[in-house]
Amino acid sequence: MDHSRAPVLEALEEFRRRGDVVFGPPGHKQGRGTDPRVADVLGLDVFRSDVLSLNGLDDRRQSQGVLEQAQELMADAVGAEHAFFSTCGSSLSVKTAMLAVAGPGEKLLLSRNAHKSVIAAVIINGVDPVWVHPKFDTERHLAHPPEPDDVRRRLREHPDAKGMLLITPTDWGTCADIRGLAGACHAEDVPLIVDEAWGAHLPFHPGLPAWGMDADADLVVTSVHKMGGAIEQSSVFHLQHDRVAPEVLKQREDLLGTTSASSLVYGALDGWRRQMAERGRELMDAALHRAERIRAVLRELPGLEVMGGEVIEEGLAAEFDPMKIVVDVRGLGISGMQATEWLRAHCHVDMGGSDTCRVNASITYADDDETEKILVESLRSLVEHADSIERRPRVHLPEPAVLEPEQAMLPRTAFFGPAEQVPAERAAGRVAAEMVSPYPPGVPVVAPGEVITEEMVDFLRSGVAHGFLIADAADPTLKTLRVVARD
Ligand SMILES: Cc1ncc(COP(=O)(O)O)c(C=O)c1O
Repeated sequence: MDHSRAPVLEALEEFRRRGDVVFGPPGHKQGRGTDPRVADVLGLDVFRSDVLSLNGLDDRRQSQGVLEQAQELMADAVGAEHAFFSTCGSSLSVKTAMLAVAGPGEKLLLSRNAHKSVIAAVIINGVDPVWVHPKFDTERHLAHPPEPDDVRRRLREHPDAKGMLLITPTDWGTCADIRGLAGACHAEDVPLIVDEAWGAHLPFHPGLPAWGMDADADLVVTSVHKMGGAIEQSSVFHLQHDRVAPEVLKQREDLLGTTSASSLVYGALDGWRRQMAERGRELMDAALHRAERIRAVLRELPGLEVMGGEVIEEGLAAEFDPMKIVVDVRGLGISGMQATEWLRAHCHVDMGGSDTCRVNASITYADDDETEKILVESLRSLVEHADSIERRPRVHLPEPAVLEPEQAMLPRTAFFGPAEQVPAERAAGRVAAEMVSPYPPGVPVVAPGEVITEEMVDFLRSGVAHGFLIADAADPTLKTLRVVARD
């Protein structure tokens, strides 16, 4: 295929060249009505290219097939049979992907280190989750993706399961053996869905961890705004084999998706694919070298523990994404959250993520010598100033078993049923009616339907005292918890 073409961008250029006058949304009329103060911040070009798909990007009948062509080019670039763009972020694409495999009341295997969007899908879709517990790394206090044997066992226990949703890479760059997991699912003739939200760059360099489509997964979702270069909310479904029919995926997507897709998102996806198809290998090569250089320098700094390939050697993960710089800061006597706050306040550096133990920085093809230097110097400065950072109450990190709660009820039933707010001290033993997800990374410690334990409450409340952000709990202070009401 001709990857020098960018059908969406070409259609936008053509729309602007023709100077169409539009009597439908968006009401700013390609910037005619945009307040100059808005244009000063956002730029007028954003509004000029903000057009509808019908009678904008394409005609009423979509007869030029602008979007279809762009999606076919994407599929070709990443080795998928089909690709579909979504402008609603992977939070929605993951829900759709799950819905394409398991409907209400049906069973789906899920790794429990799931992002809150997955648990939200379990609630909304009414799926009966069969949890596959991640591999817990006690020393690093980190959950890595599950292994094929775990999946084989769960599929044997639940032969009526419709498939599996796997999350890889994790926020911290550790990756599953996708091929092994796909094999385990295919042996039972069920599909493997991969939430590869953090993996949009993987198809473009052989030195990166396996890309889901190359590793035999059936359906892969990526967020191209995370490790790729499209704008926020850019998400792509990639499909192959015949276990998930493209028309089923499209119809279920239609249930959830917007009817006003953003041409800006489509254009950015189209342009990213062209850039990667033409120069991906070279750009990723440079980024990989940069990431290795940064890791090597940071390893010399006292008090920092930099994660790398040793997680594979220790048998904890199948692969590691070298573009993730993961730095444990416990040796400095502070938490990852404190490190992030200090770096933002003192160096104007915003890290990619943090938790109690560590911070991470995503290196992409867009980094350059300047950003490399800033990252290294800021972390050096953090090390030098760590003693001056106030000591906060310690987070009571739980034993791994605490993060494998007993499920007493379907998440959907618990979430939508009668609930009450009880003081945290009296919550142990009750069934949760809400998600409680320290953010970032946004992996729920408690999900609806799970039995709350004292250790969980202790961990979460000590975390709040330290500075956890809990956006999804009804009471973010966690003085009270929302539980299923007693009969
Ligand atoms: C593993 C995982 N899946 C899905 C999502 C949701 O992606 P998006 O931000 O594109 O909605 C995230 C977001 O951080 C994530 O980490």
